[in-house]
Amino acid sequence: MAALPKSLLVFLTFQAVLLFASILWSKNTTIFSTRPSSGKFQVNDRSEVTNTVHNGNLRTQEGLVTTRQGKCNLPVTNFVFIKVHKTASGSTFMLLARFGRNHDMTICYPARRSKARHKQLSYPSGKLIRKDCNPAIGRNYTLLIHHSIMNKPAMDRIMEPGTKYIGIIRQPLNHFRSIFFWEQHILRHNKNPLATFLNMKENYTVRSKDPYSKHRNFQAHYLGFPTKLMASKNTSQLYEALRTVASWYSMVIITEYWEESLVLLKRKFCWTMYDILHSTRRLHALKTRKEHVTLTDKQKDTHRKMSNIDYMMYDYFNNTFWQRVAEEGPEFWEEVTYYKTLNHEVNQHCTSVRGERVFPANKWSQEFMINSTFCHELHGWGEGRWAVSCRDVVNKQNEEMKKKQAQVLNDSDT
Ligand SMILES: *[C@@H]1O[C@H](CO)[C@@H](O)[C@H](O)[C@H]1NC(C)=O
Ligand SMILES: *[C@@H]1O[C@H](CO)[C@@H](O)[C@H](O)[C@H]1NC(C)=O
Ligand SMILES: *[C@@H]1O[C@H](CO)[C@@H](O)[C@H](O)[C@H]1NC(C)=O
Ligand SMILES: *[C@@H]1O[C@H](CO)[C@@H](O)[C@H](O)[C@H]1NC(C)=O
Ligand SMILES: *[C@@H]1O[C@H](CO)[C@@H](O)[C@H](O)[C@H]1NC(C)=O
Repeated sequence: MAALPKSLLVFLTFQAVLLFASILWSKNTTIFSTRPSSGKFQVNDRSEVTNTVHNGNLRTQEGLVTTRQGKCNLPVTNFVFIKVHKTASGSTFMLLARFGRNHDMTICYPARRSKARHKQLSYPSGKLIRKDCNPAIGRNYTLLIHHSIMNKPAMDRIMEPGTKYIGIIRQPLNHFRSIFFWEQHILRHNKNPLATFLNMKENYTVRSKDPYSKHRNFQAHYLGFPTKLMASKNTSQLYEALRTVASWYSMVIITEYWEESLVLLKRKFCWTMYDILHSTRRLHALKTRKEHVTLTDKQKDTHRKMSNIDYMMYDYFNNTFWQRVAEEGPEFWEEVTYYKTLNHEVNQHCTSVRGERVFPANKWSQEFMINSTFCHELHGWGEGRWAVSCRDVVNKQNEEMKKKQAQVLNDSDT
């Protein structure tokens, strides 16, 4: 056999290595996996990402979003958001609704007016059927963001196959402070309502009869933790259930790290900076002095015991979040800093000039333009207005579908 020239050999070896690497890459379907060994909590990279109508405001369509795993150019445009009360879910709702409207997503808009008024879909029952949504002729839903208790089988039945789930969770004591006054608890006129309430509950134990309420294990229930296991004392059983619940979600936003969570969401869902711009006016803050009150260690401990599943779940998702952020590498934090500055500039522009302004492309962002319409929506629209604008998209889609169907009937007549 004739010896191959050395340069050709080097070349062939190089090609073989490349080929091998690309085979590995094409087989590598996981975007992330929090614990590679557990195999849970994974989503598929390319296969599950649906095609999309590109956002009209993005000028450069080629600008691919670079992530640690490689490039992606197909944003996730079918998702459910579990909108847990009093977790900054309202601000998240508006941001996600804007994304949905901009991407012509098909919302499951509550068919019942009284529900729609309160941004509720299945809440508080958890039962959900197609009839609960305004009709979408000939299509599955791709967007569900109204208050609904997580019910994966029921939601999967009405959503487009491959739909991703986004959750949100808040540090349980912060959540308790906030929801206590929202639910107009009977003790709220007391001098120190939170402390009084917790002192009364000192000897409370979770019973299987009433394992959750608005101020205990409320978030766990909302996010789909099985009610019948809440009173269990078997830790491994609880963690098993928790891991199952976690495996349903592609992303769980942590209220305490809301903007950081949005950057992670952007990366994981292949979105743009433009998609996650938000109004700085509506960030949640503890409002009344009574909410801020200092609690004793004993009172805090009482809440921890009462709401044990919420704490377990929060710690789990918070840990997972930080683990995933660590996997993104130090550039993640550069991006967060850039995002906060950019968002601040956008908000300032919208409170002063409000006219057209182009934000140039850079490492983290495609070029985009904002104008007075954008500013009006950012600062003037509430949740209800956003929901209606998503509903209007579906109504338009239905009209088009009806026209098409009439066309088909006409054609078959002649
Ligand atoms: C495949 O994914 C794993 C885990 O995300 C990663 O460690 C590995 O480097 C990837 N392999 C390739 C060839 O991209
Ligand atoms: C809706 O989803 C179901 C699966 O749940 C699928 O069989 C069906 O083809 C989808 N319908 C449309 C119009 O895409
Ligand atoms: C605790 O739960 C695990 C997992 O569900 C089960 O295998 C085990 O038998 C349970 N232990 C007790 C003491 O019930
Ligand atoms: C969330 O987890 C991080 C990292 O483990 C920790 O430093 C932080 O205190 C946790 N946050 C809360 C609110 O518990
Ligand atoms: C702002 O931009 C959007 C999208 O490009 C466009 O639909 C809208 O008409 C513009 N508004 C004004 C006031 O020019």
